[in-house]
Amino acid sequence: MHVKNLLSLKGKVILITGGEGLYGSCQLEALAEAEGKVITASPFLENAQNVVNEMKKRGLDVHAKYVDQTDHNSIIKLKAEIKDEFGGLDVFVNNAVARPMKKYRDPLEAFAESMRINATGMFDITREITDLIAERGGGTVVNIASMQGMFGADFSLYEGTEMDSPPDYHFHKGGMIALTKYLARKLAPQKIRVNCISPGGLFSNQPEPFLTRYKNKVPLGRMADRDDIKGVIVFLASDASAYINGENILMDGGLHA
Ligand SMILES: NC(=O)c1ccc[n+]([C@@H]2O[C@H](COP(=O)([O-])OP(=O)(O)OC[C@H]3O[C@@H](n4cnc5c(N)ncnc54)[C@H](O)[C@@H]3O)[C@@H](O)[C@H]2O)c1
Repeated sequence: MHVKNLLSLKGKVILITGGEGLYGSCQLEALAEAEGKVITASPFLENAQNVVNEMKKRGLDVHAKYVDQTDHNSIIKLKAEIKDEFGGLDVFVNNAVARPMKKYRDPLEAFAESMRINATGMFDITREITDLIAERGGGTVVNIASMQGMFGADFSLYEGTEMDSPPDYHFHKGGMIALTKYLARKLAPQKIRVNCISPGGLFSNQPEPFLTRYKNKVPLGRMADRDDIKGVIVFLASDASAYINGENILMDGGLHA
């Protein structure tokens, strides 16, 4: 098959959670630019709808739906809506994250709340949505983890700022990378591939002392920009990666090389 056809998402129905967010909107745009029919689902439907409306003006085939991944009934409702309106699903991008814990000494309730959303909720939506992909005869899942699920925090980056790297984030992102490998084997008989991207920090006007230190540590001398994840997500979502399963791609500009 021609490589342009391998990379095309034409005819694919794709769900991304949190596609109105920072990295989420880059992926939503990329998946639609590669000609996928892309649904973003989020508890913040108005924000999602605004992002989708802007992209629709450029002719992109994007849609917004409600889901709260901690609410099982909303996941079941989303599944039914996708089946009724789009006929099924081919690709799931597991991108949503919530950040209830900010600091190491925050109350344990914040850690538990993080697990409710980022571990239990994330697993619930993945299990349900991959059933929908299986009904269609197979497809692919891309989990969005983080370099912080692979490496310890570099706390020197945050000195003199309000920023921090809370422990729950490292814990559930590391779990997501491990779950990727589990699901790659578990779901392969249903012809579902499961891979993961572990991005580094995306530029979003972080405080100056942090930015300068971060750029100095990255061999490419910059934070990720909005285009950096676009090729990786389309590659893993498309048939161009048909023989890649259970992989985690670190995208950090060489920070951990
Ligand atoms: N921003 C970065 O620098 C960075 C770096 C590495 C990895 N990541 C990862 O990229 C992904 C996207 O991050 P982001 O920076 O765009 O985050 P963001 O905070 O901008 O967006 C997260 C989205 O998750 C969704 N969400 C939150 N709670 C939810 C729930 N209960 N149910 C369903 N959806 C829910 C929201 O719609 C929100 O828009 C995350 O998995 C994050 O860990 C981000």
